[in-house]
Parts: sequence; C-alpha cells; structure tokens
Amino acid sequence: MKPHVVAAASLLLIALAATTAGAVTFNATDAASGTAGGQRFDQAVGLAYASQVLSNASTFIWSAFNQTSPADRKPVDAVTLVVADVGGAPAFASGDVITLSAPYVGNYSGDVKTEVTGVLYHEMAHVWQWDGQGQANGGLIEGIADFVRLKAGYAPGHWVKPGQGDRWDQGYDVTAWFLDYCDLLRPGFVAQLNAKMKDGYSDDFFAQILGKSVQQLWQDYKAKYE
Ligand SMILES: *[C@@H]1O[C@H](CO)[C@@H](O)[C@H](O)[C@H]1NC(C)=O
Ligand SMILES: *[C@@H]1O[C@H](CO)[C@@H](O)[C@H](O)[C@H]1NC(C)=O
Ligand SMILES: *[C@@H]1O[C@H](CO)[C@@H](O)[C@H](O)[C@H]1NC(C)=O
Ligand SMILES: *[C@@H]1O[C@H](CO)[C@@H](O)[C@H](O)[C@H]1NC(C)=O
Repeated sequence: MKPHVVAAASLLLIALAATTAGAVTFNATDAASGTAGGQRFDQAVGLAYASQVLSNASTFIWSAFNQTSPADRKPVDAVTLVVADVGGAPAFASGDVITLSAPYVGNYSGDVKTEVTGVLYHEMAHVWQWDGQGQANGGLIEGIADFVRLKAGYAPGHWVKPGQGDRWDQGYDVTAWFLDYCDLLRPGFVAQLNAKMKDGYSDDFFAQILGKSVQQLWQDYKAKYE
C-alpha cells in the first residue's frame, strides 16, 4: 500500500475503535408495526425515544450497581429492543435482546409511554445484572430488576405497598421494596449484592454485607410496617 493509503486505513481503524471502546450501541426495531399494539407503540412511544431510554437506563444501572468502569460490567456491546407480536409477559430479556410485547402495549390502559419506560428499566437491569452463574433464585433476580425500576422513579401505581408480601424472595415489587429497606440500612447494599453475584450465589451474602441473616432482615422489615 502507498503510505497515504496506509495512513487513511489507520485513521479508519482509530475512528472505529473510538466508537466502540467502552461504548454500547442501542437499537430499537418494531417488528409488529402491522398490529394495533405495534402502531400504538410507534405513536405513543416511538423507536427514537425507546433507544434513548435503553441508553439512559444503562447509565443509571451502571451507577446503581457501582460499575464505574466497563471492566466491572458484563461484556455487552450492543443491546437491541424488538417490539414483537408475542403474548405472555409484558417483556423479557434474553442475552442482549429485549423483546417487548406489542399486545401488552396495545391493551395497556393508562400512560403507556411511562409504563413502557419502566418496563425497559426493568429489562435493562436483567441485561446488566449478575445472576450468580445461574444459581441465584428467580425472585431475587426479578426483585433487583424492580428495585432498579423503583429507584429510577418508574414504580407503577399497581405495585404492592412497602411492607407487603409473604416472603423476602417473592420477587418483583415485594422483593424490590425489601431490597430498598436493606439499601437504606447500608447505602450501596444492592450494588454490593450484585457484585457478589458475579461468581455464584448464597443467601449468606445478606449477612456478609449487613451482619444479619436474610430471614432476620425480613422479620425486621415486616415488624417496621406492622
Ligand atoms: C437497528 O436495527 C434495524 C433492524 O435490525 C436496522 O434496520 C437498523 O439499521 C438499525 N439501526 C441502527 C442505528 O443500528
Ligand atoms: C435521557 O437522559 C438525558 C440526560 O439526562 C435527558 O435529557 C433525556 O430526556 C433522557 N431521555 C429519555 C428518553 O429518558
Ligand atoms: C389485546 O390482547 C389480545 C390477547 O393477547 C390480543 O389478541 C389483542 O390484539 C390485543 N389488543 C391490542 C389492541 O393490542
Ligand atoms: C464502589 O466501588 C468502589 C470500587 O470499585 C469502592 O471503592 C466503593 O466503596 C464502592 N461504593 C459503594 C457505595 O459500595
């Protein structure tokens, strides 16, 4: 290659590295635009807004998880949202792909833009959180994702109230409020718990961080709201 061609090629490589190093790409696509739910998504939420939420949610989660350096995070460099004509859950995350149910969007009664934003914070937490190498219980995983949604200010009105629920690992809103209690006892608790969950899982992590077993903490929490 002639010198100036080599120089141009090197510049191109530097430019590509600069857009990917430490940065994550976010993309959203509506694969259900032919359905009523997909059309409501496009009108009330929109792809541009949704990708901005994915990006903002990631920044929020890295801070909530105290993952200031990319080396602390899961090695994910692109996250895609697909609005799809699938029923069941409102949304789910699998690896670095988040699927949002178009029928859920279509049937939602109320402020659907705020609801979708909250759902995306929850799913984005799944993309970034550790799961104890698959050993952590599902209720805690869902509780951490709803804790993120809560701290971002998107807890919906239909959630249980703080103090409600029968078990600490019941999941979702019940566990999110309990984790919020633990995080008040020691700010950064959830970040520390998540960090421990990188390599495995034990209920004893609660005692290691807070000095009390998770069962004792749950009893204290319930007593506080009696
Ligand atoms: C987002 O994904 C869609 C579908 O895969 C693709 O057509 C589009 O070019 C992508 N946009 C960006 C900005 O990557
Ligand atoms: C994303 O965050 C920026 C900076 O805080 C804010 O201006 C913007 O409104 C946010 N966008 C969405 C869709 O949340
Ligand atoms: C409401 O949900 C049902 C069942 O999933 C679905 O068939 C229907 O298309 C949804 N309605 C809208 C407006 O999305
Ligand atoms: C956040 O992580 C750093 C190390 O990366 C640690 O020094 C600091 O204490 C942590 N903050 C909290 C609140 O746990």
